[in-house]
Parts: sequence; structure tokens; C-alpha cells
Amino acid sequence: MSTSLSSGIPDVSGELEQFMTLEQFIIDRQNQFPHSAAAFSRLLRDLSVAAKIINRNICQAGILDVLGESGTVNVQDEHQKKLDEIADRELVRALRKGGECCLIGSEEQAETISMNSNQESHGQYAVFFDPLDGSSNTDINASVGTIFSVYLLPEDWTGNEDDVLDVALQPGAEQVAAGYVAYGSSTMFVFTTGHGVNGFTLDPSIGEFLLTRPDLTIPDHGSTYSVNEADIEDFSPELRDFLTWMKRTDPETGDRIRARYIGSFVSDFHRTLLGGGLYVYPATDNYPEGKLRLMYECNPMAFLVEQAGGSASTGYKRVMDVQPTDLHQRVPLYIGSVPLVEAAERFLQGEQTLDD
Ligand code: AHG
Ligand code: MN
Ligand code: MN
Repeated sequence: MSTSLSSGIPDVSGELEQFMTLEQFIIDRQNQFPHSAAAFSRLLRDLSVAAKIINRNICQAGILDVLGESGTVNVQDEHQKKLDEIADRELVRALRKGGECCLIGSEEQAETISMNSNQESHGQYAVFFDPLDGSSNTDINASVGTIFSVYLLPEDWTGNEDDVLDVALQPGAEQVAAGYVAYGSSTMFVFTTGHGVNGFTLDPSIGEFLLTRPDLTIPDHGSTYSVNEADIEDFSPELRDFLTWMKRTDPETGDRIRARYIGSFVSDFHRTLLGGGLYVYPATDNYPEGKLRLMYECNPMAFLVEQAGGSASTGYKRVMDVQPTDLHQRVPLYIGSVPLVEAAERFLQGEQTLDD
């Protein structure tokens, strides 16, 4: 929306009067950060800068030589895409340059990366991330994302490599921030610091993330569910009964829930957060513990969904109560509107059947 100044010169930056930038938002809420507000603000800024650089590579894929596989295999035994490596590199660079992060755990790196340990003032934060989620979508122009999870490490931790996992692998309930970037029809930065969930849309013409989705809350009743039903033969009988129950025609409204599955957790989660519903990645033959990783996919989204009034479970336990034992450990995931997560838990735990 352009308005003309008295001089008649079009004022195309009118949106800055209308919208709050991510930086303004963070500065205005520094009193909410229970630790060093300035350092924490800089950490969030570093993550948003990396997001803009990753976004540029994604938006110019094909023009830039960033499509296809890189020819390497990561610790997950997955063939890496070029954009997996680019996203990983940009996040490591931004966090190393920013100086607030002393430890990184990435889907694309077998071990954690200690940073700044050779400097006196090393940062306080550990950041776990999935640099590019939904990699199978990169070459078909479908949505992908970045997921991050932030912990505060003990002041007295000296950066000693021997105890790094003991110090860093904390339950999700200890997160001080979590968020994701959804590179979709628009690019959104959605995050929480434990005081609700807020979404920002990138205006590439000014390079700013602008607050467009304040105080996001997940509806209790949604219209979609996401699960890859190609694996249905692997699902437990209890899970198959739950899915049959969930897909029934609602006797009161005559409505039926709809299936949506993009193959990018960030995008399927973003839709579930905004519209309500359920995302499931259960145990399968290929992934007996589920496919999604606890530290940098399940925990951050669990923090977000709970802050938005939703729920995240392994089917048997609150995701954020799981005590991690490995950087890349996987857990089954049922995440979304509370009534649907609770119904899944009842079926999986034998407390409800199709005969009820
Ligand atoms: P990533 O690209 O980071 O490995 O994550 C892919 C995940 C998740 O984004 C998506 O929902 C799921 O894998 C799709 O798995 P299936 O192809 O087995 O359904
Ligand atoms: Mn992922
Ligand atoms: Mn990934």
C-alpha cells in the first residue's frame, strides 16, 4: 500500500508504520527473557539473518546451482541435498559470527560443534537445528523449512568436550526458545520464548520480518490430519483403529476430517498450528522409534504447540518430558489440537476402542 508524502513522492515503506519488525518485537520484550536480554536478542537476530540467506538460495534455486544432491551422505544415512548443506553452513556461520552460541547440534553434523571455546567470552546458548526440513521437496518447488531449538547452558560450563552431551542434552521442557522458518508461498519466521507464539512474514523488498501473526493459538477442532498412510501396514492395530475413528463422519456435524501431507514437517505443522488438526509420524518398520528427531524437530515444535494451546506426545508421554540420550535420537510424534492428541493416546494405550 503506497501513500504519497506531501511532496507527492510515493511512500512505499508505509508498511513500517503498519507493522512491527522482528527486531523491534525482540527489543520490546527483552524484559521477558530470564537471562541476558541483549545476548538472547542477538542470538535471535543471528538466526533470522541465516533464515534470510537460506531463503535467498531457495528462492533462486535453479538460477543458483543449489538443486539436487550434494553427493554426500549424512549421519542419518540420508543423501544430502545441496540446500541441506547450504542451510547448515549458513546457520553455523551466523551463530559463530554472532558469538552468543557456544554449542551447535545439527541434523547434518554427526557430532555437536563447540564454538568460541578459545575465546574468554564464549556464548551461553546451545542451538539445535534441522537446517532444511522437507529436503525431498527442494527440487519440486514445494515448501521446506528450518527448525531451531535453544537452550541456556550452565554459566560454569567450560566448553569441555568430555561432558558436552551431559550438559547439552536436556529435556525439551528446558528450552528457552524454539521456532521455525517456513519457506512457502511467503517466508515466515515463527517462534516462542515461552510467552506465546508469534509469526513474522519476510518482506524481501526491505529485508525485514514483519509481525503478521501475533499471539498464534491452535484451534481445538481442526479440519486436517497428516500421516503417511503408505506405511499403514506397519502401524499398530491400535493406531489403525484410531485413524479409522478419526476419519469417521461426525454424527453431529456430518463433517469428515481431510488428509493433507506435504512431506515437509514444517509445512504440515504450520498448517496444523493455524487451522487445528493433527500431525503424526508414528513408529514404522523403517523407523521403529519414529522418523522425526527429538532434539531438533520434535522438541521445538512441541514447545511451540504447547505455547499455542496444543499438545505433543510420543503416544505415551509428553514429548518435552523425554530425557534425551543421543543427539540424533528419534521419537514417535503425535502433535496438534489437544482433543486429537488425547484421543490418539487413549487408543494407543488401550483406553478406547472402536467399540466404545
Ligand atoms: P528432513 O528433510 O529434515 O529429513 O525431514 C523430513 C521429514 C519431515 O519433514 C517429513 O514430514 C517427513 O520426513 C516425511 O517422511 P516420509 O517421506 O517418510 O513420509
Ligand atoms: Mn526434518
Ligand atoms: Mn533436514
